[in-house]
Amino acid sequence: MRRMKTFLRSISVQARRRRLARPTPFAALLLWALVPLRPAHAQAIERAPDTMEARLQPCAACHGAQGQGVANSDSFPRLAGKPAGYLYNQLVAFRIGRRHYAPMNYLLEFQLDPYLRAMAEFYAAQRPPLPAPAVPIVSNDVLRLGQSIVMHGDPSRGIPACSGCHGPSFTGMEPAIPGLLGLKPSYISAQLGAWRYGTRTATAPDCMQIVAGHLTEGDVTAVAAWLSTLPSPENAAPLPRGTLALPLACGSEPS
Ligand code: HEC
Ligand code: HEC
Repeated sequence: MRRMKTFLRSISVQARRRRLARPTPFAALLLWALVPLRPAHAQAIERAPDTMEARLQPCAACHGAQGQGVANSDSFPRLAGKPAGYLYNQLVAFRIGRRHYAPMNYLLEFQLDPYLRAMAEFYAAQRPPLPAPAVPIVSNDVLRLGQSIVMHGDPSRGIPACSGCHGPSFTGMEPAIPGLLGLKPSYISAQLGAWRYGTRTATAPDCMQIVAGHLTEGDVTAVAAWLSTLPSPENAAPLPRGTLALPLACGSEPS
């Protein structure tokens, strides 16, 4: 496990050094593994089973074979069970550089839409169990603030309740609002921070940029901590399309 960590750290260090200038040999290798099979490749990897699981092995190192996430990382997100439309939008966002994480930007640079769609559908269909709720490392006051913002928002500051869009059990909604369960607090904080600083954006109107823009650093810590303590709901599937009337329009979620 330690060797894996060192290996992954070295990829991201290399990637950062090269500033997306050109693929690292590692990325080139992963790309090769990911290219949808054509006859020439089919010969080269004789009799390797052509399943999505096999093709997605490079992704499994960071996201788990079923997209369940990996226990030893705070920043590699769970993908399993998020709506396919949401996952597809993210894969496109990494491909075009709208979201930034060098290994993923490289991996997706040359992938075509139908293959991104197939990857998104694979992870959306997975239902591995959610991890045990996190043991909070913040005070009860901070948790109470987190709960209050997530469940009720703060109308005096223009913050809508997170549950109004992510669902009362935070399972998300088809086709493109993600569930917020099974994510580490550091990942949630980093994403909200990326919206606040404009390094992550979504199709306009970018409702998350508006929501995150009204949050203070303290709010971000509180909502991330509280969300990560939630137990798994009985049914973790995203709500059907149109179940919730969104408090703000979101360009990525057709109404
Ligand atoms: C070296 C580790 C690594 C590899 C390999 C990797 N990912 Fe990721 N992935 C990440 C990280 C880290 C993020 C979050 C980046 C950020 O902070 O925005 C991410 C984000 C994502 C997201 C967005 C998740 C969300 O909830 O918004 C998707 C979808 C995804 N990866 C799919 C894939 C697929 C498919 C592959 C294989 C082609 C892959 N990843 C390979 C580390 C990796
Ligand atoms: C008006 C609807 C709406 C509200 C309110 C809302 N969200 Fe979102 N949220 C979205 C949409 C849509 C996305 C997907 C954006 C994209 O495609 O990148 C999203 C994405 C996210 C993500 C990224 C998840 C991932 O896997 O990377 C996080 C984290 C998040 N929201 C947290 C929150 C929190 C915390 C609140 C409350 C403070 C909140 N959201 C309120 C609509 C909403």
